[in-house]
Amino acid sequence: MKSFLDIHKTDSADLRKIIDNAIEMKIARKGRLRGACDDDKPLDGHMVALIFEKPSTRTRVSFDVGVRQMGGQTMVLSGADMQLGHGETIADTARVLSRYVDLIMIRTFDESVLLEMAEYADVPVINGLTDRTHPCQIMADVMTYEEHRGPIAGKKVVWSGDGNNVCSSFLHAAGQFGFDLTFTGPSQLDPEDEFIGLARGKGSAIQIERDPVKAVEGADLVVTDTWVSMHDSQSTKERRHNMLRPYQVDERLMAAAKPDALFMHCLPAHREDEATSAVMDGPHSVIFDEAENRLHAQKAIMRWCLGV
Ligand code: CP
Ligand code: NVA
Repeated sequence: MKSFLDIHKTDSADLRKIIDNAIEMKIARKGRLRGACDDDKPLDGHMVALIFEKPSTRTRVSFDVGVRQMGGQTMVLSGADMQLGHGETIADTARVLSRYVDLIMIRTFDESVLLEMAEYADVPVINGLTDRTHPCQIMADVMTYEEHRGPIAGKKVVWSGDGNNVCSSFLHAAGQFGFDLTFTGPSQLDPEDEFIGLARGKGSAIQIERDPVKAVEGADLVVTDTWVSMHDSQSTKERRHNMLRPYQVDERLMAAAKPDALFMHCLPAHREDEATSAVMDGPHSVIFDEAENRLHAQKAIMRWCLGV
C-alpha cells in the first residue's frame, strides 16, 4: 500500500513514472472526442473519499473528475461536517473510513493530521495540501514545465515571495527531479531550513537572493503564490503585503529572466498583488495548463497509490 504524502518521501523513479503516466493519459484523452472518452477504467469499483478542512476549487474538482474519468466514485466530505471536526480522533476516523473506501485524499491544516490519517488508515492517503506542503500541485507543475520546455533537470527555478507550503514542495521537487531553485523574498518568510538542506543534500543548488531582479537572472521558470495562505491569520495581511510588495512578479521582473522563461502560479491568485495581470495573462504564463494538469497528475498519483 502506497500513500502519496510528500514529494521527498516518494521514490524519484516512482515520481518519474507518475509524470510519464500523467502525460500518456492526457494525450490519450485529448485524442478522443470530448464526452466520448472510453478510457480503460482502472478505478472501476473503487470509492475515493475527498476530505476538505479548507476551501478548494482545483483540488476538489480535479480529484472528483479524475476519479470519475477512471471509472471510480467519490464522496466529497467537509471536515466540519464530519465527527472529525467535533472531537472524534483522526486515528478512529482513519480506521472507520478504511472499512468503506479504497483511497483517502485529505486537505487539512497541521500536517500531523495527514500523517496520523496515513498511519492509521488501511488504505492509501494522498496529501491534498497542508500548512506545510502541497505535493500534488508541484507534480502538476513539473509536468507542465516538461510539456512546454522538456526535462526540468538542470534548470533554474526562481520562487519569488512567501516561502510557504507550495514553495516547500518545490524544494522537495528540486531534490527529486534535479533542478536548482533560487528563493527571493523577505528573510522573515524564508523557506524551511530543513527543506533547503534536503534539496542541497540531493545535489541541487539552492540560493537565497534578496534582490528579486538579481534572483531571476538566468531563470527558466519564475513562480509565485498568494501572500496570505489559508492557514495565515488575516491579522498578518497588512504586514505581509508590506514585506512582500517588492517581490511582486511584474513584466519588469519577467524581462530580467531568460527570454523563454515560463511563469507559474498554483492559483487562486490575487491579481496585482503577488503577480500582475499583465504577467498572468502574458506570453510567459502557463497558469491554466498547471490547473489542467492537476487532473492528469492526480489521476496518475491515484493509480500509483492503488497499483492499478
Ligand atoms: N491550487 C490549488 O490547490 O487550488 P485550490 O485551493 O482551488 O484547490
Ligand atoms: N499557499 C496557498 C496555496 C493554495 C492552493 C495556501 O495554502 O493557501
